[in-house]
Amino acid sequence: MKKFLIAGNWKMNKTTQESEAFVRELKAKVKSNPEDVAVLVPFVDLHAVKNTLEGSGIKFGAQNVHFEPAGAFTGEVSVPMLKEIGVDYCVIGHSERREYFNETDETVNKKLKALLAADITPILCVGESLEIREKGEEQSFVGGQLVADFEGISAIDAAKIVIAYEPIWAIGTGKTATPEQAEDMCAFIRGVISGIYDQATGDAMLILYGGSMNAGNAKELLEKPDINGGLIGGASLKTEDFSIIAEAAASLK
Ligand code: 13P
Repeated sequence: MKKFLIAGNWKMNKTTQESEAFVRELKAKVKSNPEDVAVLVPFVDLHAVKNTLEGSGIKFGAQNVHFEPAGAFTGEVSVPMLKEIGVDYCVIGHSERREYFNETDETVNKKLKALLAADITPILCVGESLEIREKGEEQSFVGGQLVADFEGISAIDAAKIVIAYEPIWAIGTGKTATPEQAEDMCAFIRGVISGIYDQATGDAMLILYGGSMNAGNAKELLEKPDINGGLIGGASLKTEDFSIIAEAAASLK
């Protein structure tokens, strides 16, 4: 049976009150396979989201973390802090963090290791810019990101990571990658992981597509053999659209 994860990345949206109202509605709308659904929310919403999700089976997580366990890092949040709340997931290396907050493959690698040591599942984002795609260099670019991001991570730990392929040109632009483009890159990523580790690790890897996935286009993307779900921004902010995407995945299991 194919494995799926439908994860909503809220980015910097929803106050605590808004998050509670949203999650209450979402619980009622997600009818099948709630354990395949996750919301990735601002730090300040984590407690409320956890309490409101209670008993639903739907998972939750954060959007970033610092790699040091504690210290003089004003404004940052540590892995032990997330662990105590009980998050299931944490997004790492989103292109917005790489672009606006100087996230590098080196810090991504440190964050992956810190999360894995605490048994929190990282959702690692990779993906190329439009400029790189137009030069036809998307595979070498994303391959390079993966090699650097997985540096020094064992096969056992690597298997716990979820990868999200998010072409930057498709994020928030309404310009989705075609199912074929998304499938090609997700299959390529699976091949890179098989090359670094072994075939079994590559085959078992959960690989998501992200970039303007919505209620209308989700099914044809999710039908592709190497796409195990979606990391969804805009369309994850409405319970109606997000639950339609979740049901599309459930129907393909
Ligand atoms: P959109 O779905 O809004 O394009 O955002 C995708 C994304 O960046 C999810 O992490």
